[in-house]
Amino acid sequence: MKIETDFLWGGAVAANQCEGAYLEDGKGLSPMDILPSAQLGRKEAMYHPQLALIKKYDYYPSHEGIDFYHRYREDLALMEELGIKAFRTSISWARIFPNGEGEPNEAGLKFYDDLFDECRKYNMEPVVTICHFDTPLALTKKYGGWENRALISLYLEYCRVLLKRFGKKVKYWITFNEINMITHIPFFGGGLAIREEENTSQIVYQAAHHQLVASALAVKMAHECGEELYVGCMLAAGSFYPYSCNPDDVWEAVEKNQDTYLFIDVQVRGKYPSYVRRIWKEKSVSLNMEDGDEEILRCNPVDYIAFSYYSSRLAGVSPAINGKVADGNAIHTLRNPHLDITPWGRQIDPMGLRITMNDLYDRYQKPLFIVENGLGAADKIEVDGSVNDDYRIEFTRNHIKAMKAAMEDGVKCLGYLAWSCIDLVSAGTGEMNKRYGFIYVDRDNDGNGTMDRIKKKSFNWYKKVIESNGEMLD
Ligand code: BG6
Repeated sequence: MKIETDFLWGGAVAANQCEGAYLEDGKGLSPMDILPSAQLGRKEAMYHPQLALIKKYDYYPSHEGIDFYHRYREDLALMEELGIKAFRTSISWARIFPNGEGEPNEAGLKFYDDLFDECRKYNMEPVVTICHFDTPLALTKKYGGWENRALISLYLEYCRVLLKRFGKKVKYWITFNEINMITHIPFFGGGLAIREEENTSQIVYQAAHHQLVASALAVKMAHECGEELYVGCMLAAGSFYPYSCNPDDVWEAVEKNQDTYLFIDVQVRGKYPSYVRRIWKEKSVSLNMEDGDEEILRCNPVDYIAFSYYSSRLAGVSPAINGKVADGNAIHTLRNPHLDITPWGRQIDPMGLRITMNDLYDRYQKPLFIVENGLGAADKIEVDGSVNDDYRIEFTRNHIKAMKAAMEDGVKCLGYLAWSCIDLVSAGTGEMNKRYGFIYVDRDNDGNGTMDRIKKKSFNWYKKVIESNGEMLD
């Protein structure tokens, strides 16, 4: 099967992991800006943001990121050399509204104007996430984040400004990055700083409802703005397999998949699935839904399903499992004995991508868009200055093959965006040394390094993949 010529090969980054310039030109703080690096306690701070809000750490990796804010021209020139056709980034909400509300910040808007012009100069399609784990910190402090319904109108005002300013330059929009992650990392997903004594599920599902309503209204706004825009939802995907054929394991996997799909059910089908009542009941959630919410959800489904895929997941209750788990980056999963695993706990499963794509397409019959897939690895610079990341080539090759197999199966897919085209700060661990890019950035976990960019071996390989429209994979 030949991939169509308008297939969007490309790469993805997120503002808060690459831009740096964390207070420059009027930007306000984002959640990532108060989180330290791994060795200074990032995990604890991520899950207990109340602590991060008051504590002072010695080093914050997002403050300089990879300095994309000042180096985006150089970086996009490299990406043009790589041949990418689509570049996904996010807009930092706190760059546009430093306090989350009030007047928009012209300097912030200008930065993205210039960035998207630069993309267009190279015929790269910008794919823009409106909120990628970065609800302005001011909104956490003042309103408690997305738990508060006030966030819907503040987000919509932000969307209104973005669509007015960039509606002619950006065709592909994503309302929220990995919307289902709010149930796993509420601070990232919803700007929620939940206290230990509170009912986390009540807060999280209420916040999620507000995001779902906001997302639907953003779709409506984009469709009515006079440009031909496509708006997608975005899922942290990866099907849960049952650990065994024990029906209890199978049921466990069904439940875990429902927890994930629930968000996309709403964003695509326009209503909550029936099983959500069980979830809310089990978690003692009593959702506050206003008149009109159901109609908003029903009338404004998304145009496509964007998703990230790093790994499949595994669920089960069998005693044989002996408590073996793989970290899986915030979504906890059992250890699958059939899969290799990275030092960061991600199991490697290209076939899982084919399975996930078939699952998603069978379920929703909407075009899919892979907007994140990649391998976090500790690359090494050789004495001759090269970076020989054959493992990344192998990972990406196998996943592209799996994607092509899914497309042979009949799945419609708009594009493949590698995470990330350039090394950046890891969201989960704050590390630089967990590298995902085809372009190496000389910066380490402690903030040392020249910030020089070096093309890795995978750069030339991916360039050929794109040039051949996915034919040349070896
Ligand atoms: C996705 C996020 O979940 O995974 C990205 O959308 C993130 O922001 C990526 O960077 C990889 O995870 P990590 O924690 O290794 O950076």
